[in-house]
Parts: sequence; structure tokens; C-alpha cells
Amino acid sequence: MRLDGKVALITGAARGQGAAAARRFVAEGARVMITDVLDDQGKELAAELGAEYCHLDVSSEDEWADAVAFTVATFGDITVLVNNAGILHFSALADTTLADYQRVIGINQVGTFLGMRAVVSSMKQAAGGSIVNVSSVEGLGGMPYLVAYTASKFAIRGMTKVAAMELGQHGIRVNSVHPGAIDTPMVSTALGRPIDVSPIGKKLALRRIGQPEDVANVVLFLASDDSAYCTGGEFVVDGGATATHALNG
Ligand SMILES: NC(=O)c1ccc[n+]([C@@H]2O[C@H](COP(=O)([O-])OP(=O)(O)OC[C@H]3O[C@@H](n4cnc5c(N)ncnc54)[C@H](O)[C@@H]3O)[C@@H](O)[C@H]2O)c1
Repeated sequence: MRLDGKVALITGAARGQGAAAARRFVAEGARVMITDVLDDQGKELAAELGAEYCHLDVSSEDEWADAVAFTVATFGDITVLVNNAGILHFSALADTTLADYQRVIGINQVGTFLGMRAVVSSMKQAAGGSIVNVSSVEGLGGMPYLVAYTASKFAIRGMTKVAAMELGQHGIRVNSVHPGAIDTPMVSTALGRPIDVSPIGKKLALRRIGQPEDVANVVLFLASDDSAYCTGGEFVVDGGATATHALNG
């Protein structure tokens, strides 16, 4: 199995893309620590998969320390970290409050920084590891009404490269993943009520919205030794969304 012997901590894994990655990881032999702030959903998923669950608000330095210590005590040193937790906030630049901006940055950007920093020592102890940072196509191009989200996802893309340069000598690889529109609660409830997300896919090269499993397969590749020579890279999973530009159509 592709993740035999790996110990993985995945953030925001109670649902959506994080949950899909947890499923894939367990199926491929990893010991998985599911973390989230949705404790009931996270515990339920962990029980179903034979994984473990730990509460982790990624914006909290103290909770990172506790989650890493608990994971190491439960499974041994961490060899895979998936910084997946994230939130979306739609508002026009002129209407975005400082509190909303800082909330998005605190979770998406600071959470990713704290996560990478928290596992370095454990990964060095294990003589290597793989960090997968979930950015977005909004880490590659600007999207109106997503100023905080876009800023946080560009920051993740940049931090990934810094970490890759610093940690490569220790056998730790760091890559970013850039999903396009993926059918998860983040998108389907973005307007405060459930919506049909399928029309979003119509303009894409592949003519469909992505599924959480489409991203999980790429995250699996980056977590596994199949990607042994990949670091500092940007892996787009977007059905072709960024293959074109705004003049098309
Ligand atoms: N769905 C998309 O179209 C899309 C596209 C590009 C990137 N992404 C990114 O993919 C990642 C996963 O999102 P998703 O689509 O599965 O959405 P989702 O809303 O289904 O899942 C996000 C998870 O993060 C958790 N979370 C939120 N705040 C947290 C916090 N402070 N600490 C820990 N966990 C927290 C949520 O409880 C949830 O389980 C996010 O980083 C998101 O920005 C999503």
C-alpha cells in the first residue's frame, strides 16, 4: 500500500476534501489523525475508518502543540501533514471588515504556518516527511469578492516554497495543491443556503465540478513516496479552470 508506515495528521478532516483524504490515506495503510473543530463529525468519521480524532483549531498555537504531542504519543513521529482546514468569506474589498479579514487569515494562512512549524521537529526525528498545503486556484489568480481568501491562498503558495527550500536538506518535502471548484459544503453553502453547484462546471475544459476524491488522489500522491522528487511545487486540480483566461467566452 502506498502509505504503509506513514503517520498522517490532516486538518479540517471532519468533512469535505479533508475527509476524502483521510479515507484514501487509511485505505492506503497510513495511521491517520483526523483533526477539526467539528468534533462530532470528526469522531464519527474516525470511528468509521479506524482512525483517531483530535480537536484542533488551526489558528491556535497551543492546540497545535497539543495535537502534535497527542499524535506522536498515539502513532509515533508524524511523516505526513495535510494543512487542509480553511474558510471562505465573500465580501467586496470596500465592505470587508478588519475582523473578517483577520479571521480568514488567522485560519487559512496563520494555521498553515503554525502547522508546518509544529511538525518540523517530529519529521526531522522521523528522518523525513511530506507537507501538503491546500491552497486554491485563488492562490494563483485574483477572484473578486474574495480579498482575504485570495491573500491567504497566495501566502500559502509562497510559504510552501520557503519551507521546501529550508526543509529539503532534512528529507522533508513541501508542496501546494490548488483545487478549482470542488463540490463540498464550503461551496454548496457559501451563500448561506444549499445551492446546486453543477452549473459551475459547465465552462471548464472537463465540463464538471470537481469531487473531493479528485483532490484526495493528488494529495495522496504528494503524501506518498511516488512524489519523492517533488518539492516546492504547485499542483493544480481544477478541471482546466486555470488553463485559459478571462478573454475566453
Ligand atoms: N471547495 C472548493 O471549491 C475549494 C477550492 C479550492 C480550495 N479549497 C480549499 O480546500 C480546503 C478544504 O475545503 P473543503 O472544500 O473541503 O471545505 P469544507 O468547508 O467542507 O471543509 C473545511 C473544513 O475545515 C474545518 N475548519 C474550519 N475552520 C477551522 C479551524 N479554525 N480549525 C480547524 N478546522 C477548521 C471545517 O470545520 C471543515 O471541516 C480549504 O482549505 C479550502 O480553502 C476548497
